[in-house]
Amino acid sequence: MPKINLKKLKIESKKEIEKARDLKGLNEVFNRYLGKRDGELTRILRSLEKLPKTKRAKTGKEANKLKDFIKQKIEAKSGKMRLIGASAEKEEWIDVTVPGKRPPLGHLHPLTQIKRKAEEIFGNMGFSIVEGPEVETEWYNFDALNFPKEHPARDLIDTFWLKNNRLKLILRTHTSSVQIRYMEKNNPPLRIIVPGRVFRREATDASHEINFYHLEGLMVDKDISAANFKAIIQEFYRKFFGKPVKVRFIPSFFPFVEPGFQVDISCLNCQGQGCSACQQSGWMEMMGAGMVHPNVLKSSGLNPKFWQGFAFGMGLERLVMMKYKINDIRLFYGGDLRFLTQF
Ligand code: FA5
Repeated sequence: MPKINLKKLKIESKKEIEKARDLKGLNEVFNRYLGKRDGELTRILRSLEKLPKTKRAKTGKEANKLKDFIKQKIEAKSGKMRLIGASAEKEEWIDVTVPGKRPPLGHLHPLTQIKRKAEEIFGNMGFSIVEGPEVETEWYNFDALNFPKEHPARDLIDTFWLKNNRLKLILRTHTSSVQIRYMEKNNPPLRIIVPGRVFRREATDASHEINFYHLEGLMVDKDISAANFKAIIQEFYRKFFGKPVKVRFIPSFFPFVEPGFQVDISCLNCQGQGCSACQQSGWMEMMGAGMVHPNVLKSSGLNPKFWQGFAFGMGLERLVMMKYKINDIRLFYGGDLRFLTQF
């Protein structure tokens, strides 16, 4: 019969109960000392009968006292652990019925909205939407459009040229270049619009940006006149602004049209009275236009004896500015949400 050392057992069991980090650990301590089969104290209690009668009663009493001690300690600690667990659970509790936080939803930029609106109106008048490259060759941007070699628009002052540029690539200054690209591949009758981004190397002010949007239009057929253009553009403005708009044509020069004109509309921002958006003139320059120059038709492989047409190119920003009474073009590209969320 091995020597029974209840004192040592008490010290050890107490330490282990204190060390236990969770209920599983406490359970292991319980089994080690009080487990039904192999618990150390259980074995001692079971072996009491082998002790001489004189020792049996005293050791039995002490062993039972130790059994109560261990039980009590374990119960007290497990009670505490359960309490802590319950309160942690309470803190982590998620109320799945609370409505979620809505992520802020963006919307289309006003320029995109207007581009789509213009596409819809022209689309309903039978125009197809065509695109072209933003990085363009000098040929399509200038030569094929009948720009003389010495034309100032080709200068570094007016145009962005790409560096180390044997191919003579530039950032297109207008989407008129797509006229040529389209006429090379498609036979008349033609009716297209070309919305797209264009670039000019110029000083910015309330109505000028270095990066802006054009919407080019081209109609080629056998019997097209400036009167057709006037009717179409007036109808476009009427649909776009929802009311008839005063339009004026001023003779103007663009090498790729003959005759050429500038189209202005009465400034809707100030009802023609003069404001910073129209530079106090009461009129807003909206686009350049004219009858397609015979040389342009030739550059595209069309015979000007059989075909004629009109072309126009408008600034999209100016259109939005008129519609929403915006007096500074730079607001479109500032990324200021106070401005953008108004549309
Ligand atoms: C042209 O670019 C011609 N390609 C238009 C054209 C097409 C004429 C077909 C004849 C036939 P212009 O440089 O004027 O033209 O530009 C057209 C329009 O773009 C202007 O009327 C104006 O509304 C807008 N625009 C021009 N420069 C700027 C600028 N820096 N910032 C914002 N809008 C501009």
